[in-house]
Amino acid sequence: MTNLFSLIDKLHQEQNLSGQELKVLIEGRDQKTAEYLYDKARQTAIATFGRGIYLRGLIEFTNYCRNDCLYCGLRKSNLNLERYRLSLSQILDCCALGHKLGFRTFVLQGGEDHYFDDERILQIISEIKSAYPDCALTLSLGEKNPKSYKLFYQAGADRYLLRHETRNESHYRFLHPKSMSLSHRLDCLKTLKDIGYQVGCGFMVGSPEQSVQALTEDLLFIKSFEPHMVGLGPFIPHQETPFRDYPSGSLELTLYLLSIVRLLLPKVLLPATTALGTIHPKGRELGILSGANVIMPNLSPVETRKKYALYDNKICVEDRPTDCHACLKTRLSSIGYEINVGRGDSPLVASSEIDGLLLAPLPINALLKERKGESL
Ligand code: 5AD
Ligand code: FES
Repeated sequence: MTNLFSLIDKLHQEQNLSGQELKVLIEGRDQKTAEYLYDKARQTAIATFGRGIYLRGLIEFTNYCRNDCLYCGLRKSNLNLERYRLSLSQILDCCALGHKLGFRTFVLQGGEDHYFDDERILQIISEIKSAYPDCALTLSLGEKNPKSYKLFYQAGADRYLLRHETRNESHYRFLHPKSMSLSHRLDCLKTLKDIGYQVGCGFMVGSPEQSVQALTEDLLFIKSFEPHMVGLGPFIPHQETPFRDYPSGSLELTLYLLSIVRLLLPKVLLPATTALGTIHPKGRELGILSGANVIMPNLSPVETRKKYALYDNKICVEDRPTDCHACLKTRLSSIGYEINVGRGDSPLVASSEIDGLLLAPLPINALLKERKGESL
């Protein structure tokens, strides 16, 4: 039998393993090997990022969604959810509070909501970027056409999160309605990267019918795609979805996979997700100790938080942003870490490129003209 410790050493040294080796590493895990792996991943994260953890202020600006993913509480078939949209001024209020608390990245996340057409999104981007030129803006708006992605980038958006959800075709089919396709999702990711965004992909751990084979394919995809960020958290059932009776993904497998991703891509930005904090009271701290280096606290208004229910029992829904910030500071210092107040760009992107972008967003009227085929 292959010795798992030597596989972990190989992964650490070469930042790569074959599909077969990854499979053995996942299937053969026990507590001792897990601890060895967590330790290597933690040291790797510290070598690049030190003990500073980047914060991203999450603004959940709409819970309307045209899609019907079988795992997600925002799916359009969930008629028991009160839907909401934040106004531009509510979004800017979230940013103002976040900026005061020290956030230098805002993440605009929502369901796939047609109300927010290109024009509305461009306006939001340009207002945020002109009010907070020192901040990075991440979008998480799902699948759009390449023209929209390009416009948003030109308006000043810096990063885009789009989890691939699973790299295995039949597993993708099982998790999604017929109207969605894995190939389109992967095309979107490639387009985003080609445009110049810092891009994040990712998947849920323990989603229904996920096999070790599918996990291996996820890891190989992540290695070859070389994203700047990877979002990886446990699946948690939502009562108003067809997956209500499936169990949550396990803490231990999530930590194990976070560590593998850290060793495959030592410089990747890797959040300890809210879902991880939901399945275990110390989930996010354990995520950091397994190689994660980012936390994404919620900046959304307290009144709307409960309504952005991707899954059941989400943490922090009653807490104000100021409370979360203080709570995180204490949590981080309890494990010997601290908040890093920088923008937290990917180390793979040269800082000269980012300085150029800070000066360059195009005015939105020019962008909209360009979209309509008029010259600039
Ligand atoms: N459990 C955990 N994560 C979920 N997501 C959606 N539904 C769930 C769930 N039930 C994740 C998806 C999506 C991200 C925004 O949230 O991976 O991409
Ligand atoms: Fe939100 Fe602790 S991080 S209450």
